[in-house]
Amino acid sequence: MQHLMSPMDMTVDELEDLMRLAESIESDPAKYAHACDGRILATCFYEPSTRTRLSFESAMLRLGGQVLGFADADSSSAAKGESVSDTIRIVSSYADICAMRHPKEGAPLVASSRSLIPVINAGDGGHEHPTQTLTDLYTIHSLKGGIGHLTIGLCGDLKFGRTVHSLINALVRYPDITFVLISPEELKIPSYLREDVLMANHIPFTEVEKLEDAMPDLDILYMTRVQKERFFNEEDYLRMKGFYILDKEKLTLAKEDMLILHPLPRVNEISVEVDDDPRAVYFKQAKKGVFIRQALILRLLEIA
Ligand code: CP
Repeated sequence: MQHLMSPMDMTVDELEDLMRLAESIESDPAKYAHACDGRILATCFYEPSTRTRLSFESAMLRLGGQVLGFADADSSSAAKGESVSDTIRIVSSYADICAMRHPKEGAPLVASSRSLIPVINAGDGGHEHPTQTLTDLYTIHSLKGGIGHLTIGLCGDLKFGRTVHSLINALVRYPDITFVLISPEELKIPSYLREDVLMANHIPFTEVEKLEDAMPDLDILYMTRVQKERFFNEEDYLRMKGFYILDKEKLTLAKEDMLILHPLPRVNEISVEVDDDPRAVYFKQAKKGVFIRQALILRLLEIA
């Protein structure tokens, strides 16, 4: 039985294979409409979500399966003090596969060690968000014709942004990737990523504070919101939240074929006037998240 805790749980070949399956589902959804007949997905979300939970549910429903779950810890017996380990033992009797989001780093890993069904990490604290990474990779693969030979700007909250952490881990395995890390001093990437992942793998990267300085070189601009829920005090969050605002004027500095990705939700870091720019692909990216999650469910259930 296979779980998904990190994008590193899959080899590059397995990721390529998964993306091929997602492409097949996207181009011929009817072929897979009954692939999960009789199967049940549990979504155990101890933290808020729109895209991840609903795209997982949409993915299972589009495969002919059914869904159950809870959308916040207070509506589950976690509010009475039940442990994640006990909850997953119970959910294992009610469902065939589980997607779990939790504010505590490592909680889905603990669940996977006690689970009788595949567990997918749907985001754990500021740590990892592997299915967002699958979505990001699939979007880049689809819209750039492959992954590699790209200069990728990661902008915003690189300290707490789990999507950034997972994406860096996944991308260092592809050829000729250069990172430009764009953040204020206080929101730089954690040192373990800088030293143990980027430097250890000899990946070229620069760290800058001004988005305008980086923009002309980028093939991909990955914007992130400042993670309000991870700050210890409101004052620090308010100081940081308006640090980057991508608007039409800044976009004049960008390449014609640069792609703008964002895991969403956005707060104010991308002005709505950018949404109509053909380079803005974040809504397309969220849609692609359904196809790659369909592919993942099929793989983990060993159906395809
Ligand atoms: N991208 C993402 O994880 O969005 P949600 O928090 O809405 O699931």
